[in-house]
Amino acid sequence: MIRFALFGAGRAGRIHARNIARHPQAELACIHDVDRPAAERLAEAHGARAVPDPAAVWAAGSIDAVMIASSTNTHVDLLREALRAGKAAYCEKPIDLDLARVRAVVAEAAETDVPVTVGFRRRCLPEYQEIRRRVRDGEIGAVEVVHLVSRDYRPPSPGYLAVSGGFLRDKTIHYFDLVPWVVGERPSEVHAAGSCLVDPRIGEAGDVDTAMVLLRMPSGALCHIHNGRRAVYGFDERIEVFGERGMLQSQPPSLSTVARFGASGIRHERYPDLYGEASFAGLLDSFVTALDRGQPVEPTLAEGLQAQLIAEAAVESLRRNRPVTIAY
Ligand SMILES: NC(=O)c1ccc[n+]([C@@H]2O[C@H](COP(=O)([O-])OP(=O)(O)OC[C@H]3O[C@@H](n4cnc5c(N)ncnc54)[C@H](O)[C@@H]3O)[C@@H](O)[C@H]2O)c1
Repeated sequence: MIRFALFGAGRAGRIHARNIARHPQAELACIHDVDRPAAERLAEAHGARAVPDPAAVWAAGSIDAVMIASSTNTHVDLLREALRAGKAAYCEKPIDLDLARVRAVVAEAAETDVPVTVGFRRRCLPEYQEIRRRVRDGEIGAVEVVHLVSRDYRPPSPGYLAVSGGFLRDKTIHYFDLVPWVVGERPSEVHAAGSCLVDPRIGEAGDVDTAMVLLRMPSGALCHIHNGRRAVYGFDERIEVFGERGMLQSQPPSLSTVARFGASGIRHERYPDLYGEASFAGLLDSFVTALDRGQPVEPTLAEGLQAQLIAEAAVESLRRNRPVTIAY
């Protein structure tokens, strides 16, 4: 049984709390959030303890792992505490917004044998795992083009956006991890374009909500990512990998839409974010199982840094409106 302390009782923290509490090999021992009532509400819902003083989490000695799902700017300090206390950590993405701090904590972790993973949960979706396996088995030959579309249902709250680091670092980073993981090579160059089309407040804050990113791989393969913060019909995500001998394509979520037949006609319900549900639970399960069996965890902290380096180059490309070479 892996006993968890959870940091953060917000959007991600609530999902993690539910998944930890449901997992047969995990237990949610305690929750800390600077918003004390939020921690108390969540703790009560899952039979856990709310801990007002974060130092008490480390002093307690009764936990095996921490789930870091607090705001992005708190991750590195919490990771450092976890490394010092020898507690396994699941850290939400991105690791931090300051690259120097990310590099420092990755180096610190490398000096220990504490297992640390980063929340790139899409790796746990069976359809993406299947596409990766078949690409790596050579089923479609050499990869030539990757085409990826991801649109959220609606943008997160202004409070979240203000500390998120911007669209490319906060959201598109998922695909900066996913694409190299699927095709087996990391991009050498990135060219990003972005617009603010969804919410003018996002533009006023200097961010974009609609992005097109082109990644060039060392093999010459090209990857196009279209990432958006809003789709009125619900969450939408799919990937297509095209190669010399064919194409592998995940199916659009709309194919699973539930149709309701009523007196007023036939209506298709908005697609629920099943990808979200399945992938959060999937990555937690893979982390808990690896800890339980003493196996390495993944995605690793170093892979978190790799995705972040691509994101930083993309931000620079967007700012300068030209392709940027990615330095690893
Ligand atoms: N993997 C994913 O797909 C995914 C999805 C959503 C969010 N996230 C990540 O999870 C993190 C949290 O996002 P969110 O959407 O839950 O944000 P949120 O704003 O809903 O919640 C953040 C919570 O952290 C708390 N907090 C702030 N400082 C704290 C501290 N020092 N100690 C403890 N708690 C503290 C806040 O009070 C708030 O309740 C972010 O890093 C985000 O990028 C990842």
